[in-house]
Amino acid sequence: MAILFDSKAKTFTLQTKKSTYQMKIDEQGVLLHTYFGAGTDESDYSYLIVPDDHGFCAQPSEHGGNRNYSLDFYPQEYSVHGNGDFRIKALRAGLEGRVPALDLRYGGYEISDGKYALPGLPAFFAGKEEKVHTLRIVLKDLYEEVYVTLFYGVFEEKDIITRAAVIQNRNNVPLRLKRAMSMSLDFPEGMDAFICFHGKHAGERQFDRRTLHSGVTAIGSNRGTSSHQQNPFAILCGKDTTEEFGSCCGLSLLYSGSFQIQAEVDQFEGVRVTCGIHDEEFEWILNKDEEFVTPEAVLSYTDQGLGDLTRTMQRAMSENLIRSPWKNKKRPVLVNNWEATYFDFTGKKLLQIAQQAARIGLDMLVLDDGWFGKRDDDNSGLGDWYVNEEKLGCTLRELVEQVNEMGLQFGIWIEPEMVSENSDLYREHPDWAMTIPGRDPVRGRNQLTLDLSRREVIEYMKASIDQLLGMANIAYIKWDMNRSVDNVFSSAAPYLSQGAVRHKYILGLYEVMEYILSRYPDLLIEGCSGGGGRYDAGMLYYVPQIWCSDNTDAIERLRIHYGTSFGYPMSTVAAHVSVCPNHQNGRVTPFQTRGICAMQGAFGYELDLDKLSEEEIRQAKEQVEFYNMHYELFQNGDYYRLSSPFEHHDFTAWSYVMPDGSKASLSVVYTDLHGNPKPQRIKWRGLIPDAVYELDGQEYTGAALMRGGCILPKPRENYDSWMAVIERKAKRNK
Ligand code: DGJ
Repeated sequence: MAILFDSKAKTFTLQTKKSTYQMKIDEQGVLLHTYFGAGTDESDYSYLIVPDDHGFCAQPSEHGGNRNYSLDFYPQEYSVHGNGDFRIKALRAGLEGRVPALDLRYGGYEISDGKYALPGLPAFFAGKEEKVHTLRIVLKDLYEEVYVTLFYGVFEEKDIITRAAVIQNRNNVPLRLKRAMSMSLDFPEGMDAFICFHGKHAGERQFDRRTLHSGVTAIGSNRGTSSHQQNPFAILCGKDTTEEFGSCCGLSLLYSGSFQIQAEVDQFEGVRVTCGIHDEEFEWILNKDEEFVTPEAVLSYTDQGLGDLTRTMQRAMSENLIRSPWKNKKRPVLVNNWEATYFDFTGKKLLQIAQQAARIGLDMLVLDDGWFGKRDDDNSGLGDWYVNEEKLGCTLRELVEQVNEMGLQFGIWIEPEMVSENSDLYREHPDWAMTIPGRDPVRGRNQLTLDLSRREVIEYMKASIDQLLGMANIAYIKWDMNRSVDNVFSSAAPYLSQGAVRHKYILGLYEVMEYILSRYPDLLIEGCSGGGGRYDAGMLYYVPQIWCSDNTDAIERLRIHYGTSFGYPMSTVAAHVSVCPNHQNGRVTPFQTRGICAMQGAFGYELDLDKLSEEEIRQAKEQVEFYNMHYELFQNGDYYRLSSPFEHHDFTAWSYVMPDGSKASLSVVYTDLHGNPKPQRIKWRGLIPDAVYELDGQEYTGAALMRGGCILPKPRENYDSWMAVIERKAKRNK
């Protein structure tokens, strides 16, 4: 059984294939955290807690004179403000006019089959016939009718444990939540490093490994989106942990708004980590019998290195988080007109691009920004989701019909959460935009954010999407969101409830996404926020792929894809071949390298196909044919990072291997050139040691390719690249 309650020892032990997680109810009813690490038995691990008289550590009153017990150093399952614990907390709340603190004690548990769901929020789910179990533990304040239910989902086979908390007020006075994290977790030792993924627009998810020092290491976003600048996925690991060895714990928050992940090294060098909704600008009032549900956090532990953690997370997200039927279907190889034309296009120009796309063998034309309202630059038009027929020279339906006749599907860009002041929507409903009353608004990309905490705005958004999708045969939408959200103020909410608006906005967004998903199950939705500004597990519950970055330079994408791969399946990484010199940084790279890099994810093109040379057309045709032949490997294969673009200067390499080892690819992009170069070797991973594979006409065992490695061809030019696919042979030729 994956969840065991030992009534004598009062321990809850959660077992997955490779890890064990344990909590214990102590004599005072405090829920202690006693173990999370490599798989072990159900012994009571509380012997690892060493009671001692540590000066200045506070004691709860039941302990009278016993100074050896203090919640200031005991590891706890859900830390709370007001019980003598001075480390970072999961929960800070108070009853209006009565008490500013809580003291949570054990109040019961329930184990059930299946995975709990969270109303209105993304959550992992059990696969078909997959055995998943749920544990609910109820905690109650020692004095007041305040309840916290901790939820655990145990995916035994997948090595995943999910967590969430539900806080309920049963008092007649309101409970004011100032901080309500999804989880806290205490590690007494061994987690010395923190890996996070920071960045900027056009440079998202850069790998950042830090040694933890005393005090708090904090990352987060207060931008209303999970953001380009930090990502709600982080790893705690040992100082010696590498790609293939050592202990590490991945932590993913299923949330697309402002978030916070903190890790505190305490006075005895233990590490506490908390994660959840950012507490800046957060305040939630619970009246009698109301409850607050935190977003879900997903944990995985392995002692087999970062690569193993990645594959566990990627597999679980693909199978237990992404719902779109597109996760298993071949994604259309598309051309998007953004970098081809920006706002400057006509219907005729789009059809020329479509014609070339059909010639190359692409599957879809995507019409990006600028097709609606008065939108010839980014200063106007958002909110007016009716077609600019003058610009297209026809109706949307007519355009789409012509594209369909060429054998291509059609996709379209929208940015429904935003409004331009120069738009009919804003003129009609200025109060639907979030602004601080009496002040000039803070704008981002010259636009304002619609107040999705309001019911009428949510309904308007659903209706405008219905209207758009009813206009023509639209197979795909790219859902964009192009600003950080400031001036969060809802004119429909009382002044003292404004602290709830940011989270209500995200709940509103999820409601709209859920509506679209249920109404248009076959629609392929690509998430986007100025590239990868909302690349998070919350979004993946609604969309199977996300535009990874507005930076399309193949070399910078190596770093962006590398960082993204730690927390997210590669099938979710939308990546396109664009023109050179690259529009973001002016770099020139070979067409082949751009193709190899973009095939790392959901593949496509983003340039004026009409301007390609015949040689480039030939290469594009070859790339598309190659991708179509091997897409299952790229979509469903296990992903191996073979060298880091942050550490290895000469090349970056990665590989996909089918889970049964029957087929594998190896991609290499050279990032430096040398006179008189040394031979470059690389070791494959994930192959079957005694199977035989053919590479460049020669046979090798899996063991040889993994232990001995293979010799890479010499680069012929700057940013040259190489890619090979090998298949397991029935038997050796000789
Ligand atoms: C930002 C996106 O990331 C781009 O791909 C493009 O869609 C623009 N927005 C359009 O405004």
